Amino acid sequence: MDFPLPEEILNEIKKRVDHGIFGYTLTTPSYWKALDSWCSREYGYHVKPSEWVAVPGVVYSLSIAIRAVTEPSDAILIEHPVYYPFSHVVKNNGRKLIVAPLSYKDGRYTRDLDAFEKAIQENNVKAFILCSPHNPVGRVWTHKELLGVAEICRRYGVTVISDEIHCDFIRPGIKFTSFATLGEEYKQKLILCTAPSKTFNLAGLQVSNIWIPNPDIRSRFKMQNQANGYNEINTLGMTAAEACYTLGKPWLTELKAYLEGNIAFVKDFLAKNIPEVHLVEPEGTYLLWLDFHGTGLSNEEMKDRVENRARLWLDHGDIFGEGGQLFERINIACPRNTLKQAMNQLKEAFE
Ligand SMILES: Cc1ncc(COP(=O)(O)O)c(C=O)c1O
Repeated sequence: MDFPLPEEILNEIKKRVDHGIFGYTLTTPSYWKALDSWCSREYGYHVKPSEWVAVPGVVYSLSIAIRAVTEPSDAILIEHPVYYPFSHVVKNNGRKLIVAPLSYKDGRYTRDLDAFEKAIQENNVKAFILCSPHNPVGRVWTHKELLGVAEICRRYGVTVISDEIHCDFIRPGIKFTSFATLGEEYKQKLILCTAPSKTFNLAGLQVSNIWIPNPDIRSRFKMQNQANGYNEINTLGMTAAEACYTLGKPWLTELKAYLEGNIAFVKDFLAKNIPEVHLVEPEGTYLLWLDFHGTGLSNEEMKDRVENRARLWLDHGDIFGEGGQLFERINIACPRNTLKQAMNQLKEAFE
């Protein structure tokens, strides 16, 4: 995001800098308390620190989780299109990548549960990486949809690694359900990945919080973490995260209202100026998924037009896997003027 944190949070980080000592730092009870207040208020679950592990990043945790719950060559399921590091961590850890593509119909993405189950059954899948809310298609899975996934995974003994990093960006009228709130029976094989890095723009300070309710899976996760030689999170990251979880709600509320304005702007701009480009209506995240099928261009022509004529560095849809061709992902967490300039450049390239 292009937005700085508010002064009162920056002051907390500055105070920590003024302390002047940055040696190895354990997570403190006040850190976990701040996380607990945030999670119980925002997502409906409590944080028991002994069940949580703080690590430097969500992608890092996906890699550790894969090694903790599967063996080399085991099959791991993901859904395409999806945040591309999902497939990288599976392949780079020597596991077998299985893809269940999402269905795209009438401008909306859904999951075909029968195909999902078949993919698990036929490939003896051991773990499923869920993107919830979904980057890049912007779906916020409903309670019913998640329960469908949870029940199939429970039946086949599949561990669910639920990446909920975008869960603080839910649009008005849409309800987020954390996988952790589906029921006790679905927590036994769950690794829940959360972080303040998207919510408060802290990615560079490298903090994420992973909930692993099952003690056996947790201890295997910790062993893999230690095998990497990793112990405690970044000192300043911890201070920043605690300050954000304690003081950041008003800033986030204001930010989300601004982002709503950005989404409305893009939607209106496209309808008026480039109607052949369709905005897939997002339910969450600050990433918009634009469908260029209506332009009549090939995927390569679209990429060339966006990069070389519009001179925009968006994320081409094909990096997100199957079904991503002829889409572009645009990050709208920037000042409106930047967005206006980008959309005008896009318009000129498609005139
Ligand atoms: C779904 C998803 N997971 C994880 C990440 C990255 O998380 P981290 O920086 O903590 O590895 C992103 C960042 O874009 C993301 O969209």
